[in-house]
Amino acid sequence: MRKKIVAGNWKMNKTFSEAEILITEIAEALDEVDLKGAEVVLCPPALYIEMATDVAFESNFTVGAQNVYPSDSGAFTGEISPLMLKELNVTYCIIGHSERRKYFNETSEFLRSKVESLLKHNIIPIFCCGEVLPEREANQHFEVIKRQLEESLFHLPVEAFMKVVIAYEPVWAIGTGVTATKEQAQEMHSFIRGVIAARYDPATAGSTTILYGGSCNGKNARELFAQPDVDGGLIGGASLKADEFLQIATSF
Ligand code: PGA
Repeated sequence: MRKKIVAGNWKMNKTFSEAEILITEIAEALDEVDLKGAEVVLCPPALYIEMATDVAFESNFTVGAQNVYPSDSGAFTGEISPLMLKELNVTYCIIGHSERRKYFNETSEFLRSKVESLLKHNIIPIFCCGEVLPEREANQHFEVIKRQLEESLFHLPVEAFMKVVIAYEPVWAIGTGVTATKEQAQEMHSFIRGVIAARYDPATAGSTTILYGGSCNGKNARELFAQPDVDGGLIGGASLKADEFLQIATSF
């Protein structure tokens, strides 16, 4: 179901004690603000998930993981299963982030199995898609996004697809300080809805949550979130400071 979401992707940042401070600061600040129905999601490194879900239990945010291995258990040294995440009350899991596609060679096929294993355990995938700069410059960005959705999500039956949150994250905007303009974000989000309508139906397209990610910050969040097809943001760098993250979370 379509909702307003601001999710903080901490990536590989913060020590445990720093994470405790940041989570406490965010939890306290969230008590004081009106989120206007938006949901705040914190996605810290896996080691801090239990601490985050403990705080979340008495606060106004939910917790997401940054990664999962698509198997319930087994000989997969170093990996974390959806079953383990579920028992720690994890609500969301980021899938298909461009850093995982690039540095860990995650293919569309592998992402498809991750999405399925999360849905099996009722964890909501935040599925990231995005084009690199040469693809945008060659005017291939629409077909790239369509292909990423087709290859990892469009095999799902409609009831399963409706549970997935999509994050459009142009790779050239991630961590670069170069944000997509509000027009570029709106254009792609509207395109994504069109592709979903063509594969499924217009009602499903209209009820899908589509977040924007890529150098979204306290200054540009309001104009991005004001776009009709932008339902919130997946925030990297700017989610590591409580003040700025709260500013973004209250930008609807
Ligand atoms: P950024 O990262 O906000 O630092 O650009 C966004 C993301 O990678 O999810």
